[in-house]
Amino acid sequence: MNRPGSFFLAAALASLFATAPARAQDKLEIFSWWAGDEGPALKALIDLYSKKYPNIQVINSTVTGGSGVNARAVLKTRMLGGDPPDSFQVHAGQELIGTWVVANRMEDLSDLFKSEGWTAQFPKGLIALLSARNGIWSVPVNIHRSNVMWHVPANLKKWGVSPPKTLDEFLATCKTLQGKGVQHPLALGENWTYNHLWESVALGVLGPEDWTALWTGKLKFNDPKAVKVWATFGQVLEFANPDASGLSWQQATDRMLKGTAAFNVMGDWAAGYMATTLKLKPGEGFGWEASPGTGGVFMMLSDSFGLPKGVKHRDAALNWLRELGSKEGQDTFNPLKGSIAARLDSDLSKYNAYLQSAAKDWKTNKVVGSLAHGAVAPEAFASQFGTVMEIFLASKNAEAAANAAQAIADQVGLGK
Ligand code: GAL
Repeated sequence: MNRPGSFFLAAALASLFATAPARAQDKLEIFSWWAGDEGPALKALIDLYSKKYPNIQVINSTVTGGSGVNARAVLKTRMLGGDPPDSFQVHAGQELIGTWVVANRMEDLSDLFKSEGWTAQFPKGLIALLSARNGIWSVPVNIHRSNVMWHVPANLKKWGVSPPKTLDEFLATCKTLQGKGVQHPLALGENWTYNHLWESVALGVLGPEDWTALWTGKLKFNDPKAVKVWATFGQVLEFANPDASGLSWQQATDRMLKGTAAFNVMGDWAAGYMATTLKLKPGEGFGWEASPGTGGVFMMLSDSFGLPKGVKHRDAALNWLRELGSKEGQDTFNPLKGSIAARLDSDLSKYNAYLQSAAKDWKTNKVVGSLAHGAVAPEAFASQFGTVMEIFLASKNAEAAANAAQAIADQVGLGK
């Protein structure tokens, strides 16, 4: 026989469960800069998660701004304020290790990598990039390529030019295009995209060995070879639109698509934008080449997600990370994102023609890391590189920029 007390207790519990839609622990907050146009691939991952865990309410917190320029600042406030999101996007490499790992704010994910068998599923070089202090600190969801130059095949045909393969050819082609009325053949966007363009020019001028030598400290930024990077960068900028700082990266890509400009140097998230958002066919609506002078080299970066210490929904976050690292997760996300899977066993039949070519290059090219997207430089250097860029843009003085870069390299002990 039920005693009244237990009846009331049962009734109270039943009504609690009936009315409470999601308990505090039934949520998952993920944090990224994949907002708006950049959102579809992330949405597909969230949908997959929601299918598997229908009782978990996913809070998709995004802060707009290409390359995470604004998101990183918001994340910093939250991390320092003791309010970390359950999992956040971060570039694989020093961007996480040099910040929240050294501050002891991240969980080591080595056990997760072991239990999911990921140490064998991801390339060794990528695992090395994610590792430091005897730990593995984030789960990579993709591989993006930084050094790509996009064009519209029909427009180049109309103008009678072909995609330039070297930096000299690029400069000459831009001159020709100006003669045909294309005043600003290179479409450029807001400030971080200058850094993005710079790393392609630097790779083109230096080649993969010297590019890598910059980051090991073996090649000084004020070496004549590295000074030449700035001089060439100045020449390249002559062909860019003067209103670049007011354009998002998508708006810069749009200029190229509309034919106001001929070329756009941007990472292959631009392929995601053009194929997924704008529904253009790779090879027809848009074409691609390695950025001038960088054929045979793949400048990589990887988006990853980490697990801060002390999050509110740790189990849900671990399941999120499991999904990100799974074959199903990667092959759901990447065909839409414009990136290839970080895993070695992805199903390439799900990927478009651009991505299949990127996957081939990833396997056969020399691989180097991106500065602008957190892979290659210590965070203390990468975060100050914008100052070097400002010095160059204000003075157009290659030596001054090169010296400033070396001063920062010395200050942060680059290569030591
Ligand atoms: C990169 C990121 C890409 C893409 C791009 C533009 O840093 O790795 O996934 O989001 O920024 O925002």
